[in-house]
Amino acid sequence: MSKKISLTRYLVEQQRVDGHIPSQLRLLLEVVARACKNISQAVNKGALGGVLGTAHSENVQGEIQKKLDIIANEVLIEANEWGGHLAAMASEEMDAIYVVPNRYPKGEYLLLFDPLDGSSNIDVNVSIGTIFSVLKMPEDDRGVDEGDFLQPGRQQVAAGYCVYGPQTTLVLTVGDGVAMFTLDREQGSFVLTQENIRIPEDTQEFAINMSNMRHWDAPVKRYIDECLAGREGPRGKDFNMRWIASMVADVHRILTRGGVFMYPWDAREPNKPGKLRLMYEANPMAWLIEQAGGAATNGRQRILDIQPSSLHERVSVILGSKNEVDRATSYHAPL
Ligand code: AHG
Ligand code: MN
Ligand code: MN
Repeated sequence: MSKKISLTRYLVEQQRVDGHIPSQLRLLLEVVARACKNISQAVNKGALGGVLGTAHSENVQGEIQKKLDIIANEVLIEANEWGGHLAAMASEEMDAIYVVPNRYPKGEYLLLFDPLDGSSNIDVNVSIGTIFSVLKMPEDDRGVDEGDFLQPGRQQVAAGYCVYGPQTTLVLTVGDGVAMFTLDREQGSFVLTQENIRIPEDTQEFAINMSNMRHWDAPVKRYIDECLAGREGPRGKDFNMRWIASMVADVHRILTRGGVFMYPWDAREPNKPGKLRLMYEANPMAWLIEQAGGAATNGRQRILDIQPSSLHERVSVILGSKNEVDRATSYHAPL
């Protein structure tokens, strides 16, 4: 790319030229990007910044929090609470919603995030990230409460993630395709490095935690068994496997070169629909994937059509290259 386009310029053009986003949403996205830059700095310092290891506390999901889970959560809240663009925030690391304090003006947007995705990879220096989703407050709503957040993913007005890997990359959609920005550390700004990302419809690469195989149900077993059977099996081709254990990094690979990602329901915790959280993991990723020509389902239903019933609700996830997602979905019994 000969002329460098910064995230700021990209968003201004989305607002002014194409009329895709209002100014408050542009501000919101710039603030989220700035917070991601700060998180990236903390991640990069690693042991030198004292950010590794556990915080000796638990989140609402009963998971032990890492120091960086808490740091990233605080960075996102502090960056976003005073700008006047938000009514409230919700996070994997907070039990209840965080309403913008009364001392600040309130805006019309709701921000949800997984501040640090892939926590088990922090201390081993493997890619991690931040995932975010933006909704609008329902109209004519006087006070904000958890119910305002419970909107299906198709109502998102922006979604994205930032992956902290060998490069720090921000990936964004406002419903007009998917754009990718790389952090230029010397300039301190995100620079557009790819636009109109498209995921190949076919793939020979799958991502699933194979150690859970004995706990899967029949449709998932069938799909993976057929991939494993390779050229001699019903698929007639060999498959490759990747599992990073950071959804953000697995999705980034899929947006870059295709693939299918699955975190299905399994019998370890039969009463939970899956491991991943619908509102701040599955929904933003599903929208990015669809915007890039891929598909995302829970095996039976499009993720973006699921009506959430609680903030931290979980969901089974199949997403990525369209033809593979369609196939895996077709193996599940129709409702
Ligand atoms: P988080 O760190 O936000 O709790 O999310 C981790 C998620 C997801 O990113 C990843 O795909 C999955 O958990 C990995 O789970 P396993 O360790 O069960 O493979
Ligand atoms: Mn996560
Ligand atoms: Mn997390």
